[in-house]
Amino acid sequence: MSDFDLIVRGGTLATASETFAADIAVRDGRIAALGTDLGTAARVIDAGGLLVLPGGVDAHCHVEQMSSTRIWTADDFHSGSVSAAFGGTTTFLPFAAQHRGQSLREVVKDAEERCAPKAVIDYAFHLIISDPTAQVLGQELPALIADGYTSFKVYMTYDLLKIDDRQMLDVLCVARENGATTMVHAENNEVISWISERLLDRGYGAPKYHAVSHPRIAESEATSRAIQLARLVDARLLIVHVSAPEAAAAILAARNAGLKIYGETCPQYLFLTAEDLDREGMEGAKFCCSPPPRDKAAQDAIWQGLRNGTFQVFSSDHAPYRMDASGKLKHGPNATFKQLANGVPGLELRLPLLFSEGVGKGRLSLNEFVALTATNPAKIYGLHPRKGSLAVGADADLTLWDPTWKRTITYDMLHDNAGYTPYEGMTLTGWPRFVVSRGRVIVEDETLNAERGSGDHIRRAPEIAAPGAREPELDPARNFGADLL
Ligand code: URP
Ligand code: ZN
Ligand code: ZN
Repeated sequence: MSDFDLIVRGGTLATASETFAADIAVRDGRIAALGTDLGTAARVIDAGGLLVLPGGVDAHCHVEQMSSTRIWTADDFHSGSVSAAFGGTTTFLPFAAQHRGQSLREVVKDAEERCAPKAVIDYAFHLIISDPTAQVLGQELPALIADGYTSFKVYMTYDLLKIDDRQMLDVLCVARENGATTMVHAENNEVISWISERLLDRGYGAPKYHAVSHPRIAESEATSRAIQLARLVDARLLIVHVSAPEAAAAILAARNAGLKIYGETCPQYLFLTAEDLDREGMEGAKFCCSPPPRDKAAQDAIWQGLRNGTFQVFSSDHAPYRMDASGKLKHGPNATFKQLANGVPGLELRLPLLFSEGVGKGRLSLNEFVALTATNPAKIYGLHPRKGSLAVGADADLTLWDPTWKRTITYDMLHDNAGYTPYEGMTLTGWPRFVVSRGRVIVEDETLNAERGSGDHIRRAPEIAAPGAREPELDPARNFGADLL
């Protein structure tokens, strides 16, 4: 009889704050001991030369989700979770998306019933709220938050999703009162639609005009407005998928003022530019996402934001649509930029991209990498310390990185169903050799060993603690009467 189920021996461990040599012993899916000479185990993995990090937490991905224009993502919860696992992610948070007229309860039930038999990694759901009726705000949402659905996304753009400022204030108040986090897609809808109409009137419909129609000003204006709305009612707000330097600056200023504002960015804003949308024919459609990638200087500003505390979370915003009539080209091979499904795939490459180009090139420390990709999202979204940490008692979710493994990306080596990767041809150094989910070795030798449906729904609780404890007493607008609103 062994002492443990699994021992990971001889690796270098890194958390969001420490790097140290130790073995990890696992029993019943949890970390049971950290140290040396831990005893015997049914299985021992030799982690010599490997980095042992908490499994990644991807806090923003669209999987088996229907868009507001009725296009399904290319990945279901099986292919999406398999793809995530190969990339070193052991927990993901897809969306249970409300379309107007739908009950949130039914939306959640549907997402859970689809996900439970398919996911191979653990998961929790964010909600998307597009129809904040009195019933939704007064009854469904508070009840769902109490049941652990403690985060939700709202949109300031997209005709069928957007809510107005008044509705945003209502949503933020419900979040504050019930202990939830609001995520916002911040782009000014009027600016985007005004530019789009003028472009289309003049015959400019190619994919590259998607970037023209979503200017940095639209993103920064909406970001600043959203921050002020959250400030008014003293609510916690996380700005998702930030691409514009001006939006990043607004987030950093808000954080420095002590507001409850958080920021997220994604691989597409570090590695793609608007020039990618200008590729031959419809190739540019592969890179159309909102907000769009910007330019090289903007990439540099986003890298800086990962280092200077602007961004706490690095997510994929995986939104996979195939380049055919089932996805991007639903409106035909010559669809205008306005008709293209928005989004890029990225669940599998999120971590390898940031590891290689961030840690490998000295832009980020290993600990910053862990914080951005696992620990902070786990903390912000109420999954910590069970997820995102290497503590005794935490789930044994581990990714064992070989920092010397060099591979050139081709779509064929990936496991999603998008049919392409925006990062084709990039050579990255540093890839996961082993991925462990609750003590199960689910990826090794580039092979999956996990049953459909073996992922667990991780239940959360309201009143979560945010990282950094920067939440203020200092901002005069914050406390003055906000509790009366
Ligand atoms: O273009 C994007 N990001 N599509 C996915 C939906 C969203 O807004 O996050
Ligand atoms: Zn969005
Ligand atoms: Zn998204």
